[in-house]
Amino acid sequence: MTKLQSIQLNIKDQLMDVYINEEGPSGYPHKRKSLENSTESIYQNVMIHSLEPNRTGPAPSGAADVKKSPCRAAAVCLSLLCLLLLTGLITLVCLFTKSNSEWKMELVLVHNNNNNLTMERDQLQTSYNILADERDRLHKGVEDMTEKINDLHKMLQACCSKQGWTYFRGSLYYISSTMAPWQQSRSDCQQRGADLVIINSKEEQEFVRRFQKVLWIGLTDTETEGKWRWVDGTLLTKSYWASGEPNGHLFGRDEDCAEIMNFNLENSWNDDSCYQQKSWICEKTWPV
Ligand code: BGC
Ligand code: CA
Repeated sequence: MTKLQSIQLNIKDQLMDVYINEEGPSGYPHKRKSLENSTESIYQNVMIHSLEPNRTGPAPSGAADVKKSPCRAAAVCLSLLCLLLLTGLITLVCLFTKSNSEWKMELVLVHNNNNNLTMERDQLQTSYNILADERDRLHKGVEDMTEKINDLHKMLQACCSKQGWTYFRGSLYYISSTMAPWQQSRSDCQQRGADLVIINSKEEQEFVRRFQKVLWIGLTDTETEGKWRWVDGTLLTKSYWASGEPNGHLFGRDEDCAEIMNFNLENSWNDDSCYQQKSWICEKTWPV
């Protein structure tokens, strides 16, 4: 028998003595049995306690195990939550790192683009300066030329007016002092190195009217009735016929030559017989 077993037996005996002294001999057998059982369970508890040295409080029972289950579940849930949070955090860090590096690359691209644009702007500015200089130079050239042309016009006018010619917008005009049929009038102009006038602008029409004379002009439909042509062979496009003119073909009259008739009106032309005697106007174009 070990020392522990002898101590156990000793305690048992002492406890039995306590019960005997309190209840008397009548209750002794039953009480002794229950006392034996309770002391055994005490020792069992002592043994369990000795196997779990750090545990405090009453020994675990079946009910305590059931109470531990919700705690374990909560712990598992908490662990899972932590894992989830950790995963989310790592994902966020990865995303942030990725977008940060992308942003840096974008910044570099923008910077490079900005440099290119700056260079392009500088080149354009240089080109603009060159072109502006060129424009100013040309503008000055045009001004000088215009001045020279005006001087030349004045010289021409002064020179030609002495011989009966009038200068207007690059052409010289001659008004006859006598009257003749259309064809003879034209021949006279040709002998002067000119031809009967061709009116091809509103300004020229106004210029011709300013002489305030009835004048043959270089327009005829002799070749084809109703098909009016200028003396250079071009077809009439813009006309200044007087109201109701040309009317030669309507009344069976042979009116195939054009004249300035109503010189006080813008629409002043009339068709008349080419054999009528009239003054005429020659035009000498300036050789380009
Ligand atoms: C008419 C013209 C015509 C001219 C002939 C005028 O009275 O209005 O159309 O050409 O006479 O002389
Ligand atoms: Ca007529």
